[in-house]
Amino acid sequence: MHRIAVIRGDGIGVDVVEEAIKVLEAVAPKHGIEWEFTEFPWSSNYYFEHGEMMPADGPDQLAEFDGIFLGAVGHPEIQDHVTLNGLLLPIRRRFDQYVCLRPSVLYPGVTSPLAGLKPYDIDLVVVRENTEGEYANVGGFQYEGRPEEVAVQTAVFTRHGCERVIRFAFDLARQRNKKNHVTSITKSNALGYGMVLWDRTFAEVAEEYPDITTNSLLIDAACMDFIRKPQEFDVVVGSNLFGDILTDIGAIITGSMGLASSANLDPTREGVSMFEPTHGSAPDIAGQGIANPMAQILTGAMMLRHLGEDVAADDVEKAVEETLKIGEVLTPDLGGTSTTSGVGDHLANLVS
Ligand code: NAD
Ligand code: IPM
Ligand code: MN
Repeated sequence: MHRIAVIRGDGIGVDVVEEAIKVLEAVAPKHGIEWEFTEFPWSSNYYFEHGEMMPADGPDQLAEFDGIFLGAVGHPEIQDHVTLNGLLLPIRRRFDQYVCLRPSVLYPGVTSPLAGLKPYDIDLVVVRENTEGEYANVGGFQYEGRPEEVAVQTAVFTRHGCERVIRFAFDLARQRNKKNHVTSITKSNALGYGMVLWDRTFAEVAEEYPDITTNSLLIDAACMDFIRKPQEFDVVVGSNLFGDILTDIGAIITGSMGLASSANLDPTREGVSMFEPTHGSAPDIAGQGIANPMAQILTGAMMLRHLGEDVAADDVEKAVEETLKIGEVLTPDLGGTSTTSGVGDHLANLVS
């Protein structure tokens, strides 16, 4: 029995989680999987009613689950720092989900906006530091609202924090056994403390992996190379903010935000891990029934893998790949005319 906390959140999060659960339920019987999904209504609507995104003991309520399955958070009428610092980011930190794993694969049947790429020419994974760095949430305001107002936002880089995520990236490169390469993303030309510690730690960890080749790229150049020669990347490791930015690029060069899966992991398994796609609540298309549920469904496959259900995860991924290749049941972001639930129903049929 896998006990999963479900937080659908806002906007398209609500709809894509519906379809992903449909698929997870559909794939379960033939693998002897039993799910127990527990819904938590924490969201912007919850905020309108209660003045907070979740109760103060919200994270504690999640502690005993085997996984958290989250849609997206964000509402046009509430400032993003309120919604995100009220729900998503504290959960990442509370459970020390220090790895954010975000694969980008160019699947057959999907058109990249980049010219001349063949299927699987892009097959990379970004390992994003997920609990500190630029997102440490350290800072404050002085003289708020006055002309002399000051805002301080401090990035926090610890040796421990850098080392564990970098080590994860090297282990992953070994395990993938593709290019056996790790790229470090830095900005130590301008940020002479935190990023220098990052670089030093990367060099030290790299010495322990003589079988893995490495390079280091400045974040601005890395953004360019994700467009210019994405084929060259294998495992990419970066700080919280740099990983965030690169993974939207990774999503769009492989076809759509609607395909980009993601997992927030505590690899030690002391804390519960959280599975949410790379995309947000997409207010521009919310309520129209056209959001692509595949990112959430592939995120469900990542959750299956984390739970040790590799064969079921393979089934879900194959169903998505097959559907993309045939190209008949696709949402508008991929050039199709299907609805969110149409894609969910189709994939649920394929995996059952
Ligand atoms: P977004 O990812 O929601 O949307 C960016 C673009 O991609 C939009 O044009 C949207 O329509 C499209 N898109 C995203 N997901 C899609 C899908 N599944 N199918 C088809 N098209 C899809 O990013 P944004 O517009 O910058 O942010 C919207 C809100 O979501 C903000 O409040 C932001 O803070 C929040 N956000 C939350 C998360 C999260 O909860 N994990 C992640 C990113 C953004
Ligand atoms: C993501 C999102 C979040 C992040 C926001 C909503 C705080 O953009 O998961 O990529 O920056 O981590
Ligand atoms: Mn993001």
